[in-house]
Amino acid sequence: MDAPNGSQDTEQTLDSQVKAFFDSAPPLQNRNDIIQKLNHFIQLNSLSSENGIGKRIVCVTSGGTTAPLEQRCVRYVDNFSSGHRGATSTEYLFLHLLLFLFLSMKLFLGYLFGDLLEGNEYNVADCVECRYFLKAGYAVIFLYRRGSFQPFCRSLPDDPLLDCFEATEGLNIQVGEAYSKAVKTAIVDHHAAVNSGLLLKLPFSTIFEYLQMLQIISKPMKDIGPRAMFFLAAAVSDFYVPWKDMVEHKIQSGSHILDVKLVQVPKMLSVLRKDWAPVAFCISFKLETDSNILIKKARGALEKYNMHAVVANELSTRKEQVVVVTIDDKITVQRDKSKADDDVENPLIKLLSQRHSAYIEDSKRMR
Ligand code: PMT
Repeated sequence: MDAPNGSQDTEQTLDSQVKAFFDSAPPLQNRNDIIQKLNHFIQLNSLSSENGIGKRIVCVTSGGTTAPLEQRCVRYVDNFSSGHRGATSTEYLFLHLLLFLFLSMKLFLGYLFGDLLEGNEYNVADCVECRYFLKAGYAVIFLYRRGSFQPFCRSLPDDPLLDCFEATEGLNIQVGEAYSKAVKTAIVDHHAAVNSGLLLKLPFSTIFEYLQMLQIISKPMKDIGPRAMFFLAAAVSDFYVPWKDMVEHKIQSGSHILDVKLVQVPKMLSVLRKDWAPVAFCISFKLETDSNILIKKARGALEKYNMHAVVANELSTRKEQVVVVTIDDKITVQRDKSKADDDVENPLIKLLSQRHSAYIEDSKRMR
């Protein structure tokens, strides 16, 4: 998914590439609706606050973008990403908040009743965890590829509608017993996150939709300063056919060679950091299949695009471990293998939200 070497653009070239990209992109159909939803979401989460300060808001990007080959698209170039990373990370961004509430209650009861409540003893470790989890509560803008993994639905089978439900009498259907717990948890947790205004889901398919939406999201995120975070796990196309160069109708088979000229997609990471949301805390990802070059490439991206952290992952081990590369650190983060249902995203989100907290504190001191 990397662009070839020798493409180190000057700032001016990048600006003109960015302009060319957006000028050529077909306008978003529901642009006004997205802007309205976003503004409402950010306003809501800026009001509900601890100490009069708004919540932290993260934009999680998830899944792969497509680059269409025809305007009336039948064929497209796709990017590998199931959306598992983004969906799982989103869950942990909430889970840490829920766990905090649980631990707070436990701590409070323990403090009030001491050893009267068996097993509810005051525990210093819990207290530390509590403070940490309080800080981990995020509102999430989930920018995802249509049809990719969704938060709270990971424990459902591939085809939940057909596998989880069964027909009963008349027009009625019911959840099969084997899936009743998983379906109920998915529905309850998902609706709780959306209805409480903590989760906004925005779908994309093409590179044109993705980058226009990222730009739209950046505008109100810029206004909330260092409280904003970008967690850019989506696999973004490096090449595309500009809309004006694209054939309208389905490309006909028949000739042995398909001759399509793809142009490099400008790396929007620099534009995001420099212009769109310069104060937001930005995390990008680096995926490689060769572990020997992974860290070098991640460090290169960190410096080139001025990221706060780059999460380096290797294709075959991406669910077991990742390496978080920052300007002065290289931290290996692993899934807890002793727990069957633990995910690498659990310690990853914990680490990144701690780093984000430190960044917010530093920003306050520098004001
Ligand atoms: O979804 P899963 O199946 O769970 O897999 C997760 C993942 C492996 C896809 C994920 O962890 C990951 O590594 N995502 C980034 C993959 C990728 O596209 O890498 P890249 O080297 O092409 O891009 C690096 C960064 O640049 C990305 O953060 C991307 O958002 C950004 N980018 C890329 C191209 C472009 N034109 N503009 C960009 O801003």
